[in-house]
Amino acid sequence: MSFVTLKEILRGTRENGYAVGAFNFNSYEDVQGIINGAVAKNAPVIVMASMGAVKYIGLKATAYMVRGIAESAEIPVCLHLDHATDLDLIRKCIDVGFTSVMIDASMKSYEENIQETASIVAYAKKMGCSVEAELGRVGGREEEVIVDEASAAFTNPEDVPDFVKRTGIDALAIAFGTAHGFYKKEPKLDYERIAAIAEITEIPLVMHGGTGVSEEGFRKAIRNGISKVNVGTELKATYVSAIRDVTAKNPGEGDPRKYMCSVKQDCSEVVQRKIDIFGCAGRG
Ligand code: G3H
Ligand code: ZN
Repeated sequence: MSFVTLKEILRGTRENGYAVGAFNFNSYEDVQGIINGAVAKNAPVIVMASMGAVKYIGLKATAYMVRGIAESAEIPVCLHLDHATDLDLIRKCIDVGFTSVMIDASMKSYEENIQETASIVAYAKKMGCSVEAELGRVGGREEEVIVDEASAAFTNPEDVPDFVKRTGIDALAIAFGTAHGFYKKEPKLDYERIAAIAEITEIPLVMHGGTGVSEEGFRKAIRNGISKVNVGTELKATYVSAIRDVTAKNPGEGDPRKYMCSVKQDCSEVVQRKIDIFGCAGRG
């Protein structure tokens, strides 16, 4: 097994034209399904817990559970805290063994975003943990982070070198037209913006709001410089419909494992399809 940082798992992505999939989980079954899917494809994988997921599962339980699963998986696994705004929780996740955290201060001013991010980077670096931050604002709702259409803002390429230099981050989430949650209409992605940012910085670039993006949309984003692709809502929907399916087919089912095995299986299949699109199969 290898339990690795975000910096390590994203090394070589842009040069080799692929991205690593980053998938949100909320319990044992979905994270096991995600890792099983990556093992089936011999692909590196990033598993992401939101602040809500960490609170739901428990801080130590989240870290130890993922580490335990990763220990028997012969692929690189990165455990990432997603969209965190609570600095205290971020430090606790670093202390307990997360290998990556995202500090999301994108709703704050540019200078405040830099200051908060830099303070987390200073703490994380000492502990050997990676940090992702966001510049610009990805729209939609990601649990407690809600950005309405008027507040969403594309990343300005000109700000990127200064932000990266002054924060010392390991990966940068950029806004170029994706949004969190299901899309009401087909998103218009600004691929030229990705290319312009990739042109001026070597920092690995992160695409949020992967649910509902077309296969061609993913491929084009990766070709233009995306190294990490986040998918959350699609897995949540898969989780719930797996349980509904078992209930519909066998309303009298009394063994909880029958429900949960189908969650694992269906999440694994979603992840395998994404891995094929992201081009990271065989790179585990
Ligand atoms: O940070 C998580 C992702 O950006 C998930 O976005 O729920 O739209 O797939 P999604
Ligand atoms: Zn996100």
